[in-house]
Amino acid sequence: AAKSLLATPPMGFNNWARFMCDLNQTLFTQTADAMASNGLLAAGYDRINIDDCWPLHKRAANGSLQWNTTLFPQGMPWLGSYLKQRGFHFGIYSDAGTYTCGGYPGSLGYEEIDAATFESWGVDYLKLDGCYVNPFKTEKYKQIYSHWHDVIGRMSKPMIFSESAPAYFSGNEHGNNTDWYDVMDWVPGYGELARHSDDIPVFRDTTAWGGVTTNYDFNTLLARYQKPGFFNDPDFLIADHPKLTLTEKKAQFALWASFSAPLIISAWVPALDKETLEMLKNERLIAINQDPLALQATLVSQDGKWDVLSKSLSNGDRILTVFNRQTQNDKLFVPFERAGYPIDPSGTQKYNVTDLWTGKSDDSATKGVTSNVPGHGVQVYRISPLYNTGRDTVVPTGM
Ligand code: GLA
Ligand code: GLA
Repeated sequence: AAKSLLATPPMGFNNWARFMCDLNQTLFTQTADAMASNGLLAAGYDRINIDDCWPLHKRAANGSLQWNTTLFPQGMPWLGSYLKQRGFHFGIYSDAGTYTCGGYPGSLGYEEIDAATFESWGVDYLKLDGCYVNPFKTEKYKQIYSHWHDVIGRMSKPMIFSESAPAYFSGNEHGNNTDWYDVMDWVPGYGELARHSDDIPVFRDTTAWGGVTTNYDFNTLLARYQKPGFFNDPDFLIADHPKLTLTEKKAQFALWASFSAPLIISAWVPALDKETLEMLKNERLIAINQDPLALQATLVSQDGKWDVLSKSLSNGDRILTVFNRQTQNDKLFVPFERAGYPIDPSGTQKYNVTDLWTGKSDDSATKGVTSNVPGHGVQVYRISPLYNTGRDTVVPTGM
C-alpha cells in the first residue's frame, strides 16, 4: 500500500471491546454525534469502525454480504453517508477465512465481491481478521492477504487495510515466534496497520490491567517494523473499562501515544466522564502520537519496577516516557542521557522539559528529570535543548 495512505496512525472508534456483538445502527450514530459534540472529532478521532456481527448469516443470491436489517434498519450506505456528512470515515470488519471469529460469513472466495460491496457502502477502512483460515499456516495467510492487497489496490478509491494475521502467529498468543517472524516479512507490505497480540480485555472481563501490559510488552518488541504508512496495533483504548483506574487508563493512553500506535477508542462515548475525555483529547500527547516521523518509542531501560522509553520527534525534540510498573507511587530520576543527549560536565547545557499531561514547562533542567509517578502510572516529557548542541536527533529506527 502507498505510504501516503496512512502517514500517521489512525484515530477513531470501534465497538468491539465495549459492546462485542451487541451492536446496532443507533450505537454508531449516537457515538458519532457524541464525538462531534464532545470535541473528540476535532481532536482527530475521525474514524468510526464497525467490528464483527454486523452481517446476516446468509449471503444474498448474488453472493454479496448483507447487513443485518434488524440491527441496521436503514442500512450501511445510509450509515456511511450519515458518518461522512459529519466528518467521519467509515470502517468495516471481515475475515480472511470461511467465517468471522463470531461465526458470520467470511470473505474467503468472495474477496472481489466483498470489496466492491464495501466500496459501494462508502467504506474506506477494512479490518480483516484471521479466524477460520485453513490450513493454519503462514503461507495460506500470505496468499489470502496478498490477494486482498491486490483487490484493494484495484479499487477506485484508496482503502486502509488493517491486518490481523500476525496476531495469529505472535509469541504471546501461540508461542510460535518462528512463524510470526515469517509473517512479518510480508505483512508491512500489504496493509497500513497490523494486530500482533491477543485481544485487549473486553468490557465484561474481570481484570484488565494485565491485558493492557501484556499488549504493551509485546509491542515493545516490534518497533523495527513501524514507519509512516505502517503501524503496529496493540489494540483498542478501553477508556471506560470498569476494571481500570483512571491512572491505568491514562497509562494506556500515554504508552499508546508514545508508540504512535492507533488510537481507536472502544467505549460508550456518550457517557465518558470529564477526566477521561480530557485524557483522550490531550493535544500534547496526540501530537507525539501523530508526529510525522511515526516512530515507536523504544525501551532505554527496564528494571522490573520502571520502564523508560524514548523516541525522536520531527522537530528534533525527544521524549522520555516513564512507566511505574509498581503498585505504589514512586519517584525516579531520569538523566537526559537516557534520551541520547550528551553528558555535559560543565552543567551549562539547559533543557526545556514539558510534562505532557499538564503542559507545565521548566527551562532550568541541566541533568535530567525527577519523575513522580503514581503506581501503574505513566509520565511523558518532551525534552528540548535550549541552544544548539550541534547534534542531530538519533537516527530514527525503521526510516
Ligand atoms: C446486499 C445487497 C444489497 C442489499 C443488502 C441488504 O449487500 O447487495 O443490495 O440488499 O445486501 O443487506
Ligand atoms: C477477534 C479480534 C477482535 C474482534 C473479534 C470479533 O477476536 O481479534 O478484535 O474483531 O475477533 O469476533
